[in-house]
Amino acid sequence: MKIDAEGCPDYGTPGKLYEKLQVLEPEEAPFSPEERLRAMAAPLLAWYESHARILPWRERPEPYRVWISEIMLQQTRVEAVKPYFNRFMEELPDIRALARVEEERLLKLWEGLGYYNRARNLKKAAQVVTEVYEGCLPHTYEELLKLPGIGSYTAGAIASIAYNIPVPAVDGNVLRVLSRLLASREDILRQSVKRKMEAYLQNAMPRERAGDFNQSLIEIGATVCVPGGPPKCRECPLYSLCLGRKQGLLDSIPYKTPKKPRKVEERTILLLEFEGRVAVEKRPGKGLLASLYQFPNLEGRLKEREVKQILESAGAGIKRVEGAGEAKHIFSHVEWHMTGYRVFLETVPQGKYLFADRQELREKYPVPNAFSAYIKALNGES
Ligand code: ADE
Repeated sequence: MKIDAEGCPDYGTPGKLYEKLQVLEPEEAPFSPEERLRAMAAPLLAWYESHARILPWRERPEPYRVWISEIMLQQTRVEAVKPYFNRFMEELPDIRALARVEEERLLKLWEGLGYYNRARNLKKAAQVVTEVYEGCLPHTYEELLKLPGIGSYTAGAIASIAYNIPVPAVDGNVLRVLSRLLASREDILRQSVKRKMEAYLQNAMPRERAGDFNQSLIEIGATVCVPGGPPKCRECPLYSLCLGRKQGLLDSIPYKTPKKPRKVEERTILLLEFEGRVAVEKRPGKGLLASLYQFPNLEGRLKEREVKQILESAGAGIKRVEGAGEAKHIFSHVEWHMTGYRVFLETVPQGKYLFADRQELREKYPVPNAFSAYIKALNGES
């Protein structure tokens, strides 16, 4: 990284396009945090007008669509969400349809997005909305906040984007932008820091453009003031306002308390194949990946000989065993380090297995991403 004359990392000067958006801060009277955030609104909104990505939920920002998109976007990137969102809307076009959907079908629509309780909460909330609010999401921030799975961020996003109610929507992206802008080295994982930022924004929001204001902050966080890499300050409409940049602190902001290391669990995954079908089983109704389907698996990293022994003592007749490779999956608190075997059977072992054909595996049973390397192995891709 280049260093500028003041010994700070040099993020360049804003490109020509952005010069006219820059705000002048008097050197002799630097802005307070409140003033800095108030000064941010005009350049931010001007930038958003020409830089907002065209996204399905933005083209038609109806409350139901905003809600579903925001919950999906908490898990993954915009590009990955688009096909999920479109499929979801096609199959469950309104709140009543969501309230009625079978849990297993809902989980299949959510398959691969992770955090499956979010999908379950969507259905619970849809049932409340159907019973209490005649199928329409409530129109106030406070009532939205009472629904299962809706916290301050989602309530703020729905209220501001769908109803233009002036309330903030502060997620991790917005916290990164604001803490850089204010050169704040407070831990953004702390609730008190989030509450403080929400209070600042509440005062800084233009009343008449609440939805655009919140989305422009989200957009800056996603496309300019990016995580995991240098921010693109030359493209930023907040260039001249950004205290973190001026003070050369962008590498160390946002600050987060380091997390405890994840627990590592070793597992042996069994692809038990019989007459062109493969064994799956339903996970318990509580805990990690509750009620999703999985390939049978055993604790530890077992050798081929040990796998054969275990299966034979459960009554399996084995034709042949092939290695199906190693894979790793990272959850928030645990990592699975897996080794897999394809086991071609003559007779099936005892156990509560369902033998699914390829189409059922694709279209019916929700199997979490943790097993995707083994789905590929079954399909001969790896
Ligand atoms: N990430 C979270 N909310 C978003 C939104 N409304 N548009 C784009 N990215 C987002």
